[in-house]
Amino acid sequence: MSRPSSPLPRLVVLASGRGSNLQALLDAIAAGTLDAKVVGVFSDKPGSAALQRVPEPLRWSARPKDFADRAAFDAALGDALDRARPDWIVCAGYMRILGPALVERFAGRMLNIHPSLLPLYPGLDTHARALAAGDAEHGASVHFVTAELDAGAVIAQVRVPVMAGDDADALAARVLGHEHPLLLGVVRLAVAGRIAEHGATVLLDGHPLFTPLQLDCDHLILNA
Ligand code: GRF
Repeated sequence: MSRPSSPLPRLVVLASGRGSNLQALLDAIAAGTLDAKVVGVFSDKPGSAALQRVPEPLRWSARPKDFADRAAFDAALGDALDRARPDWIVCAGYMRILGPALVERFAGRMLNIHPSLLPLYPGLDTHARALAAGDAEHGASVHFVTAELDAGAVIAQVRVPVMAGDDADALAARVLGHEHPLLLGVVRLAVAGRIAEHGATVLLDGHPLFTPLQLDCDHLILNA
């Protein structure tokens, strides 16, 4: 008699725009290289392209201006998240600040991908800021979400060279190509139960990670 298989880990992705990181997760699931299922895509932008990447029943969106304040919007978002019963919530291009009550509600199971080598350049316009600073390299980070913007414990990073003649768009495109395997690698660890948030520290297989994992040839490695 075959054993019943355990249910697939449930992912909800929060996105405000294009959704290429979401698509990377969907493609990996379809290819059988990520053992999870996307049970919802939630957006603060009802017209976002990201929503169109999943069937209608998996979409949730609401316009912040239809709510009295951030707390009311976050409460509605939190209730919708609860209904989806996510194991992990992945912010992938979600451009709205999450208030502390919402972050607390889902603490330890919210991830965010940010296009910089955190703690450098939290917030917006990271590519232009890296160019303006004359940085030789830029990159992306995946971290646990905390109430402080882009400040949670960093799980993994990818470093990307800045090339002569780069403008912000060229640099963003180069970084984005590496964001997809970076996010996928971290989500694989998450759904396998291998990472956890412990205060400001990331635990990998129960052991503190003293520096973020690094993406090397599409694989996450410990920084020697
Ligand atoms: C990515 O650069 C991500 O790091 C940032 O927003 C962008 C989203 O891109 N937070 P996409 O919507 O996944 O294509």
